[in-house]
Amino acid sequence: MADQLINWFPGHMAKTKREMEQSIKLVDVVVELLDARAPKSSKNPYLDELWSRRPRVIALNKSDLADAELSGHWTNYYKAQGFEVVLLDSLHGNGLKLISQAADRLMKTKNEARKAKGMKIQPTKLMISGIPNVGKSTLINQMAKRSDAAKTGNKPGVTKSNQWIKLQNGMLLLDTPGILWPKFEDQEAALRLAFIGSISDEINDTYTLAVKLLDQLLGTYPKLLMARYKLSEEDLNLTGEALIEVIGRKRGHLKSGGEVDLERCARMLLDEFRNGKIGRITLEDVVSESEN
Ligand code: G4P
Repeated sequence: MADQLINWFPGHMAKTKREMEQSIKLVDVVVELLDARAPKSSKNPYLDELWSRRPRVIALNKSDLADAELSGHWTNYYKAQGFEVVLLDSLHGNGLKLISQAADRLMKTKNEARKAKGMKIQPTKLMISGIPNVGKSTLINQMAKRSDAAKTGNKPGVTKSNQWIKLQNGMLLLDTPGILWPKFEDQEAALRLAFIGSISDEINDTYTLAVKLLDQLLGTYPKLLMARYKLSEEDLNLTGEALIEVIGRKRGHLKSGGEVDLERCARMLLDEFRNGKIGRITLEDVVSESEN
């Protein structure tokens, strides 16, 4: 992780900041995309600094993969901070309308003031922002209703060639997302970002990551682990390190000598977690966060 940090700071961050400052001037509302499985760790506090006095929608994306009850907690948590909050599943296009409805609510006072002065109401301009892998391109594609609308690539910042996508409701969406940097500095947050795949696997050892994930899930979602990997009650008393052996054996992830292929099993566990096969899981709760 340290190497990654050295590569990232300060050049990239300074450039990203400059570009975000420029882009943000172009829009009325920022849609801050968070991963619903880690709604605190996937938030970059820089946007709070940059956008503190302007309206913002917080969209908890990948809510199809998250624990519905905890998504409710996080919705309330961010609402209490004065944000509009929506639950999204960009992959299947669920909840998209909620974004424009929330943006409408945020612009209401400003638009009414303009109207009262006899001024023309301008279409609301939106941009999508968030750390890598939270689903920005997927959301832009869905909102644009055309497959080539979103530019791919995860280079931080916003490119110069911004274009507006006219949405069905008349709003304008910046076609290029604002890509923020993930929280490398906070080790707990970085670990959660690695679990959900927002920080690339190269900076973590797959085996260690899978063991740490198992340790966390043993504490928070033991029943889901039990059901998915056909574990016994006793297995749930094991550490992550011992459990990965048990799971590897059950799945037949064995090397020629009969020992468990830990690397293969670790990869399988991370994949299954990331694509929701273990179940709907959220890695952090509001209560534990406020206790930290
Ligand atoms: P980004 O622009 O913010 O970097 O994210 P992008 O849209 O590329 O989405 C990252 C991955 O997350 C994609 O998976 C995408 O399909 C998935 N995704 C986005 N929104 C949702 C959602 O609401 N629910 C679910 N379940 N998945 C979502 P991918 O193409 O398989 O990429 P990868 O994860 O293999 O890298």
